[in-house]
Amino acid sequence: MTAQKTATLTFSDGTPPVEFPIYEGTIGPDVVDIRKLYAQTGKFTYDPGFMSTAACESRITYIDGDKGELLYRGYPIEQLAVNCDYLETCYLLLNGELPNAEQRRDFEYRVMHHTMVHEQMTRFFQGFRRDAHPMAVLVGCVGALSAFYHDSLDINDPEHRFVSAIRLIAKMPTLVAAAYKYSMGQPLMYPRNDLSYTANFMRMMFGTPCEEYQPNDVLVRALDRILILHADHEQNASTSTVRLAGSSGANPFACIAAGIATLWGPAHGGANEACLVMLDEIQKQGGIEKIGEFIDKVKDKNSGVKLMGFGHRVYKNYDPRAKLMEETCAEVLQELGLQNDPTFALAMKLEQIAREDDYFVQRKLYPNVDFYSGIVQKALGIPVSMFTCIFALARTVGWIAQWGEMIADPDQKIGRPRQLFTGPVRRDVKPIAER
Ligand code: SDX
Repeated sequence: MTAQKTATLTFSDGTPPVEFPIYEGTIGPDVVDIRKLYAQTGKFTYDPGFMSTAACESRITYIDGDKGELLYRGYPIEQLAVNCDYLETCYLLLNGELPNAEQRRDFEYRVMHHTMVHEQMTRFFQGFRRDAHPMAVLVGCVGALSAFYHDSLDINDPEHRFVSAIRLIAKMPTLVAAAYKYSMGQPLMYPRNDLSYTANFMRMMFGTPCEEYQPNDVLVRALDRILILHADHEQNASTSTVRLAGSSGANPFACIAAGIATLWGPAHGGANEACLVMLDEIQKQGGIEKIGEFIDKVKDKNSGVKLMGFGHRVYKNYDPRAKLMEETCAEVLQELGLQNDPTFALAMKLEQIAREDDYFVQRKLYPNVDFYSGIVQKALGIPVSMFTCIFALARTVGWIAQWGEMIADPDQKIGRPRQLFTGPVRRDVKPIAER
């Protein structure tokens, strides 16, 4: 990075002014390189929640929150969702370019021939209660993959990094489906390499050994698009966790397990589950007639109630994924003859009312990727408790692409933020009799 512009920081406390280089990206905000601030002034910057902090340089995903734009390696999400499938998108995120026909065939072959997990992995499931939250199972099992590969992994070897990426992308559907089957008390289904990536996943989720599972192409395509929409999203909380874990040199399976744990939170990937719970609650209270009352509760700061699936740290316009998710939702409901699904009607009415309400307009709160994704996943037969697992399955490629970019970055260091300390100053321990 070369700096053409600079920023000068002056201080009112007599600290001499400091000049910092400013770097420009290909698109998006410039950055002020403050790496020398502490060495030159003995001061830190202060940015809890990283509202104004670029933690890294990246070439993978770009978001324009004001325009509501999302690009994977420069390609708009609207075009990828229509013209590509999830595995092509995985190839793009990992390699920087869309695959040609031969590259796509080779990539798909490699992924589909890594879909099985070690037979002993199935023992891990036996240790969980049947009613364990599937995200708890997934965190445990993905972390446990480290136990099978940690000694065959030199993270500084690009080929080892690529094999780990293939293994994680390939095995997530098997583990997610196994977590679901275990919760249902049904036998785990082995992957089938003759099916497409997403059809194979749906068969492992909904098939049984008792009969042939016939994937519905419309539903497979819809779920494949949902995976594309969730594949990556710049430096969100879970991706930042994966980068931070990876900066210590931890193996990628452990880093992805850390990302899954972060995604689980209702403010992040857990919002799709929380959004459907919210819609079901409004339905129970009386449905569309009760929307006004619910919105009033959301606007009352003391209620602690948020409109789940709304708002975003970056998007201050419509999340482009939400629009695509709404279209996919309508397609799936149509295909299943559920076009009058009351939850979908309620969600659309709730969106319409919220977007006309000053509270939301002033705060630039729009539907995000999680607002409609729960409705379409429920229509696909995926239980609410599995929604965030599907998000984790889809996001694995984004996490591993970002992890790989960080490991390959010659400037990368272990992430180690500092703090503003406001606790007790030095004091001596008194004997217990004097305390
Ligand atoms: C994801 O980062 C990513 O890229 C994440 C993600 C990805 O792909 O990785 O896009 C996936 O996590 C989507 C977001 C899913 N979460 C939700 O839908 C949960 C509900 N949304 C909120 O919790 C909230 O909008 C966040 C967490 C998403 C963003 O919070 P910010 O950026 O910290 O904004 P904020 O909390 O400071 O909100 C600003 C104001 C506040 O009001 P005031 O203090 O100004 O009066 O807006 C209010 C907030 O109270 N607000 C909401 C709201 N979201 C923000 N009020 C009601 N309902 C909401 N949903």
